[in-house]
Amino acid sequence: MAEFDVIIIGGGPGGYVCAIRCAQLGLKTAVVEGRETLGGTCLNVGCIPSKALLHASHQLHEVHENFEKMGIMGARPKVDWGRMLAYKDDVIGQNTKGIEFLFKKNKVTWLKGWGTIPEPGKVTVGDETHAAKSIVIATGSEPSMLPGVEIDEKVVVTSTGALALPKVPKSMVVIGAGVIGLEMGSVYARLGTEVTVVEYLDAITPGMDAEVARTFQRILGKQGLKFVLGAAVQGVSATKTKATVSYKLRKDDSEHSLAADVVLVATGRRPYTEGLGLDALGVEMEPRGQVRTDGHFATSVKGLYAIGDAITGPMLAHKAEDEGMALAEILAGKHGHVNYGVIPGVVYTTPEVASVGATEEELKEQGRAYKAGKFSFMGNGRAKAVFQGEGFVKILADKVTDRILGAHIIGPAAGDLIHEVCVAMEFGASAQDLALTCHAHPTFSEAVREAALACGDGAIHA
Ligand code: NAI
Repeated sequence: MAEFDVIIIGGGPGGYVCAIRCAQLGLKTAVVEGRETLGGTCLNVGCIPSKALLHASHQLHEVHENFEKMGIMGARPKVDWGRMLAYKDDVIGQNTKGIEFLFKKNKVTWLKGWGTIPEPGKVTVGDETHAAKSIVIATGSEPSMLPGVEIDEKVVVTSTGALALPKVPKSMVVIGAGVIGLEMGSVYARLGTEVTVVEYLDAITPGMDAEVARTFQRILGKQGLKFVLGAAVQGVSATKTKATVSYKLRKDDSEHSLAADVVLVATGRRPYTEGLGLDALGVEMEPRGQVRTDGHFATSVKGLYAIGDAITGPMLAHKAEDEGMALAEILAGKHGHVNYGVIPGVVYTTPEVASVGATEEELKEQGRAYKAGKFSFMGNGRAKAVFQGEGFVKILADKVTDRILGAHIIGPAAGDLIHEVCVAMEFGASAQDLALTCHAHPTFSEAVREAALACGDGAIHA
């Protein structure tokens, strides 16, 4: 039996980052991971492979839509789907091997297999039981299923199956207009699939600033995605080659159905904690299945901690990473902390969509006096040069103090641009602080500055 300071169950972004930081802080650390490769859902079947396919399909879109406009002529390339998937797998491999290298470099032990916790302070992996002063649950999440819908990962798929379809389907129905549905729907729409997104609510991307969501839907519509909103999916019936989605429109209860080669179920994810033995340990859980923690990631059992998708909060890799680092510091006797008010969210479509802090709807609900500074990418020379003048930056600031309360961006590189607002918010900056910061010309980030200027005396290029 080996003895560790910390054993982390799960080698995804929460677990592996926590492990590396624990080791850097001098703790003897092990990670239990049952997959063949490290990196969890994010690296193996989530964030990273979807970004590879988004990139590849975006390149195809550029060739088809924009090359001739720039005087680049020639035969239009076709998709070799097998090679596109191989490229995606290569990207996954490079990243998962990278984590393995970091484990070796930092002397983190990888206990290969699925872990259970037979008693506080012990973790069993296969035939061996190991002891640890602290145990961290970083087991992530799995797709949540719709009742009456059976997944075969071929015709009726989750995001995992959607990343490895045997061929590009002619038609696809996506259930759920959340992040997964829109990212994967975009990939296939760009590859020529007829994509219809069926969503329960009356708007796409629940929780997103409503003005951004409306613009986003309009742009995706122009890219060929069809939307059926306000539709509650009742069930999916499938043969070996086709599936039919039946749904009821909420406004009049009328029943409809849609047939497609592939149906992607993207209706959210739920915490994955089965098989750990948490029931027997008496670990307190939240009503929606997450492990209950205090403000410092401690569960109701002494020495047992939890982070990431397994606990409450947004199910985002970077939120899990931050919690992993903060917990490592706490375990090393320091003061780890996560600022939940400044966690960005990004949708990696084209254009990208990114947000941080409060939405206008939230500020109205709170009755808070605010001002909104908005700037269209049409006024940004760089965006126009790359055919991405659609979209805008919106910065929300307190009406009296000018302190930045939130930012919402739809446009080129939004997922990168959002971070200057995140840093500003971390430092308690005002919109004027951003507006008075020199931004290089010509860059997309000038649009952020212009939106900040629009919170004050006005943008220059509007
Ligand atoms: P989601 O929670 O973002 O969206 C699910 C959507 O499905 C919602 O709009 C919901 O109203 C709809 N829905 C639920 N039941 C339905 C029904 N019966 N009929 C029709 N529509 C229905 O979940 P999603 O997209 O599956 O993503 C799961 C998690 O993974 C999310 O927490 C997301 O933040 C995370 N993720 C993040 C990414 C990123 O940061 N870029 C990328 C992919 C996933």
